[in-house]
Amino acid sequence: MSALPALSTVPAEHFTGLDLARIRAEFPILRQRVHGKPLVYLDNAASVQRPKAVIDAISDCYSSYYGNIHRGVHLLSERSTAAYEGAREKVRAFLNATSVQEIIFTRNTTESINLVASSFGGSVAKAGDEIVITGMEHHSNIVPWQMLCERTGATLKVAPFTDAGELILEEYERLLDSGRVKLVGVVHLSNALGTLNPVKRMIEMAHARGVPVLVDGAQAVPHLAVDVRNLDCDFYAFSSHKIYGPTGVGVLYGKQALLEAMPPYQGGGDMISLVTFEKTTYADLPNKFEAGTPSIADVIGLGAALDWLNAIGLDAVAAHEHELLEYATAQLREIPGLNIMGTARDKAALVSFTLQGVHPHDIGTILDREGVAIRAGHHCAQPVMQRYGVPATARASFAVYNTHDEVDVLVKAILKVKELFA
Ligand code: ALA
Repeated sequence: MSALPALSTVPAEHFTGLDLARIRAEFPILRQRVHGKPLVYLDNAASVQRPKAVIDAISDCYSSYYGNIHRGVHLLSERSTAAYEGAREKVRAFLNATSVQEIIFTRNTTESINLVASSFGGSVAKAGDEIVITGMEHHSNIVPWQMLCERTGATLKVAPFTDAGELILEEYERLLDSGRVKLVGVVHLSNALGTLNPVKRMIEMAHARGVPVLVDGAQAVPHLAVDVRNLDCDFYAFSSHKIYGPTGVGVLYGKQALLEAMPPYQGGGDMISLVTFEKTTYADLPNKFEAGTPSIADVIGLGAALDWLNAIGLDAVAAHEHELLEYATAQLREIPGLNIMGTARDKAALVSFTLQGVHPHDIGTILDREGVAIRAGHHCAQPVMQRYGVPATARASFAVYNTHDEVDVLVKAILKVKELFA
C-alpha cells in the first residue's frame, strides 16, 4: 500500500471501479435508518458487517446438512465435515500457506495468540528470556505475553514508535540484539493508529537472530492481501468477524514444523489419537489444536466470506479503502481543533482522532444521533492512549462498502459536534 500523498482533496466521484451500489445491496443491515437517519457504519475495525452470501451459508448449513464433524458415519456428518475442511482449504489458499495442516481454527485472534503464548511460549520461554512486542499492540497481543512472563520469569520488552505512529526500527533491532529474545509479536495494522507496520522487514531482522515472529493480522486481513510464505512469518493470527465472516471463529496459521513440535493447547475430543487412563496420544495437525466441537457453521461461513472477498479482489478493496482514507483525512484535517492520532506514511483503513474540548464518547454519542456509527474509547489499546496522553479517541474505520458520501456525512456530523460544544 502506498504512502498517503500530500493531502489534496480527492474528488468524491473518483471511485476505483468497484460497483458500490451492488456491493452495498448485498448487506441487508446497511439498509436501515438509525435515529431516523440512514445508517453510516464506520465501526468496521471493531467488527465488520456480513454480506448475504455469508448469512446464507450459515443458514444453509443449519437448514440442510448440519451434523457434528469428523465423527459420524452418516451423510450429514460427512457433508458438514467436507464443508468445514473445505473452509480450511479456503483459508490456506487465502493466506498462501503451504498446507492445510498449518491452519488451526480457534475462537478469534485473541485465542490464536493465547494458543501460541501458552503452547509455544510455555515450551521455550524461561526465566531471563525476553518476548518483544511493539508499543502499538492491542491488549490481545500484550496480555497473553504478560501472563507467559508471569508464569516463566521471562520479561516483556516493548519496541517504541514515533509521534506519527511509526515503529522505530533501530530500537526494535536493539531489543533483538539482547540475544535473549524467544519470540516477537507484532501487529500488522494497528487498530488504534492505522499504522501498517513493515512486518516483512521486521521478520527478516528477527530471523537473522533466530527469533520466530507472530503477526497479529486481525485488522490487516480485510484490507490487504497477506501471503504468509512471502512474509515468512512463523505465526499469523486473525478473526473471522473482521473479514466479513461470523463471530466465534479465528484462525491461527503456524509453520508446520513449529506446530508439530508444540504441545496441545487444550485437551478433549477431536484432538486425540488414542485415550487410555494411563496415557493419551494426540491427533496429527491440525486436529491436535482443535479440541472439542468447533463452531462448525461459522467456520463454513468464514469460507463463504473469503469466497465473497476474493470475488471482489483484495487489491480493488485496498485501493478503494485507501481512497476513502485519503479523502477522509484531507477533510478532517481542515476541521479546527481536530487532531488525527496516527499519521504514519504507511497507513490503512481507519482514522483515529480527538476534538479539542470534547470527550470522544460525546463525539460518538452525537454522531450516533446522526446515524453515524464509530467507536469511541481506548480501542483495547490502552498503552497507545497512554503514549499520547489521551484517555480515548474517536475512530472511524472503513470497509469495502463505505462511500465518499458517507465520509461527507461523517464530516458534517463532526462539524455539528463542534457547533454544539462551541
Ligand atoms: N480490537 C477491536 C477494535 O479495535 C475490538 O475495536
